[in-house]
Amino acid sequence: MNIDKVPESVGKEIEVKGWVWRKRESKNIIFLILRDSNGVAQFTVNEDQPFFKDAQEITMESSVIMKGIVNEDKRSPTGYEIKTTGMEIVQIAERYPITKDQSTEFLLDVRHLWLRSRKMTAIMKIRSTVVGAIHEFFRDRGYIEFDPPIFQPSQCEGGSTLFEVKYFDKKVYLTQSWQLYAEAAVFALEKVYDMSPTFRAEKSKTTRHLSEFWMAEMEAAWMKLDEVTEVAKDEIRFIIQQVLKKNKKELELLGRDVKLLEHYAKSEYPTIKYKEALKIINEKHGMNVKWGKDLRTLEEAKIAEHFGVPVVVTHYPTEIMGFYKPPSKEDPKEALCFDMIAPEGYCEIIGGSERSLLVDDMEKRLKAEGEDPKNYDWYFDLRKYGSVPHSGYGVGVERVVAWVCGLDSIRDAIAFPRNMIRFKP
Ligand code: 4AD
Ligand code: MG
Repeated sequence: MNIDKVPESVGKEIEVKGWVWRKRESKNIIFLILRDSNGVAQFTVNEDQPFFKDAQEITMESSVIMKGIVNEDKRSPTGYEIKTTGMEIVQIAERYPITKDQSTEFLLDVRHLWLRSRKMTAIMKIRSTVVGAIHEFFRDRGYIEFDPPIFQPSQCEGGSTLFEVKYFDKKVYLTQSWQLYAEAAVFALEKVYDMSPTFRAEKSKTTRHLSEFWMAEMEAAWMKLDEVTEVAKDEIRFIIQQVLKKNKKELELLGRDVKLLEHYAKSEYPTIKYKEALKIINEKHGMNVKWGKDLRTLEEAKIAEHFGVPVVVTHYPTEIMGFYKPPSKEDPKEALCFDMIAPEGYCEIIGGSERSLLVDDMEKRLKAEGEDPKNYDWYFDLRKYGSVPHSGYGVGVERVVAWVCGLDSIRDAIAFPRNMIRFKP
């Protein structure tokens, strides 16, 4: 039986398979708190019981199969106490290296064990809901799942964060984004999405960057900026709604402000232009950011704080944007692109744009970035045969999980985080 069924079993004998999470001992009684993937439950063993000696020997994280009769008991941390009627030790654990109050770095070193903590268990469950929600969102709307190659011959998001891989006697890169390949797919499937590992050699050790993360991307033929930003807002609201529906218990365990999430789940999110964002931070928040500068975390945080909900910022300066983000016709200095910025300091969670159809302009911009446009021949082909407007965006899965869970660092949003200084275990 799963531990979360204990409250329904008062007066009955139950059997639970699990691990010893906590143990308290007095002279004539032992309290064993068991955990399984669903929760914790307190068992008691009295000195007159035949397995009292076994219970004395048991250590933290030992695996056991316990039988007992459930009673309500206000003194128990869970409100229930199970009087043990049978106990089978599956394995006595060696001295568990994780004790109270250990450093974050140590917990990362023993991540393979720390995954069992109630905190990590809760986060992994919420992550699973987020991932499931993304699939459901797109499939329900007729998007086709389309998988990209992970080995790619060229960059999508700037050469400085590429991971090089020896590829027989040649050199390739790990994918920075699925986007360029998705652009090929929309001419066949029109609406596609995907969620897959993404790699960036980020030289920063921030609480928001991983070198291996999961990006959930979408791409749609015929779609323009105003439409694609609305899809992004709907997706984020849907993710939060699903987490609220399925993970109340986990959110509570993490101490997350559920009221705030409920607010995000049903609010409208504003769309503002980059130049309006500058006005807000410069005029209302005493900053001095000049037109043409990319927004830093600090500035993004102020913008989202100003509205108290996620904000879509569009029309960033073309000059500082990737080669595929097209200049607007009205004002070519502004690109038809957007970021979604999450509140509470979580900042950019989505990046997207319309896709440029101007081959000459893209060639020029690639050259300026030190790229050989010849490597993009196939991509430019897409503009030659039945080209249509199209748009897409990418959601940083871990950024969303970190925000929804209210985590201090993105590292806890993924089971085995990789960053500049860590690739083990
Ligand atoms: O803004 P980015 O770089 O956009 C793209 O890669 C586009 N090609 C996506 C598209 O249009 N299909 O990345 C998208 C999102 C960011 O907003 C951020 O949430 C996340 O991916 N992201 C990272 N997450 C964790 N660690 C990193 N190093 C990240 N880099 C980007
Ligand atoms: Mg971005």
